[in-house]
Amino acid sequence: MTTDAQILTALRNAGHGSVSGTELSQELGISRAAIWAHIEELRGLGYDIEAGPHLGYRLLNAPDALHADDLISRLDSSTRGNRAGLAERPREPGPATQKRPARTPAPPPRIIGRDIRVFQETTSTNDVIEKLARDGVKEGVVVFAECQTRGRGRLGRKWISPPHQGLWFSVLLRPDLLPQETTQLTVASATALVRAIRLATGLKAWIKWPNDIVMGGRKVAGILTELSAELDRVKYIILGIGVNANLGAGDFPPDLRKAATSLSMEAGRAISRPELATAILSELDDDYARVSSGLFGAVADEWEASCSILGRDVVIRVGDRQIRGRAESLGEDGALLLRTDHGHLERITGGDVTLER
Ligand code: BTN
Repeated sequence: MTTDAQILTALRNAGHGSVSGTELSQELGISRAAIWAHIEELRGLGYDIEAGPHLGYRLLNAPDALHADDLISRLDSSTRGNRAGLAERPREPGPATQKRPARTPAPPPRIIGRDIRVFQETTSTNDVIEKLARDGVKEGVVVFAECQTRGRGRLGRKWISPPHQGLWFSVLLRPDLLPQETTQLTVASATALVRAIRLATGLKAWIKWPNDIVMGGRKVAGILTELSAELDRVKYIILGIGVNANLGAGDFPPDLRKAATSLSMEAGRAISRPELATAILSELDDDYARVSSGLFGAVADEWEASCSILGRDVVIRVGDRQIRGRAESLGEDGALLLRTDHGHLERITGGDVTLER
């Protein structure tokens, strides 16, 4: 962790209290003058840090900007608190008779978000991750961009990504899954997004299969999963996630205004992007752990409970083909099980869904 991240973590862990320069200097092993220089640097970035000779340092406010040090510090602070329960969750499937340890061990090490990089502008964060993947970077690295010039969505669509208004980011994963099992990760990402939105904003979002996150029938977030694989082995997966956090109606092109929304439009207030980003990374990491430990069933149950199309009559367009039927459930591999009008159960692994009137 960088010094700035360590200072932010120490200030956050003090809650509403303050931390003295001496404490910080001892904890970080640098002089009080160096601490002061870092505090000034953080203030320059927009962090409101109160300082006084007898008070020590106190974090009053953080800017709504994405800074890698800040995100890492927030994740570190949340790991100490909220994720303690994860310590009991096996990362690998363990024997059924395994005894629970007498004392709660440390939570498992985080994978998603252990390395975070923030760009002011890029073409697409998926492009940046692809390059990192080819360079052999470890899984878990997350790339955010404040703005994307060529953000892309599913089925070759454009994804609008205006500066400082949303979360546009991608995650590199190297899962031990077969190529046909990787839909599980898209499903897990959708459940993680719904939980994180709830935790950070109090809003209830729904999943529209395969991977749209919707509110009031309008899309608020989307997931673009890109895969590099051999016949029987996944080389890497890029999970690209776009969340319309603080966009206003006028930020969407006219043709999208009926179909798209943002969290701030739904909540009627601005959303803290760093807080939301941290919640999403934390929930994604939890669900990645669940899928990696063979616990996809639990994720699928949660997905079904938040799915807006189950039990509904739908039309699915797959290329030029249209399939009509009732959305029944989610298959073990993450495919949608559709009861067609002819009574057959079809496994649908991709396509565009609309509700039948
Ligand atoms: C969709 O619903 O069509 C998927 C949208 C995915 C958008 C995100 S934004 C971050 C990442 N970079 C991209 O170019 N696309 C994904």
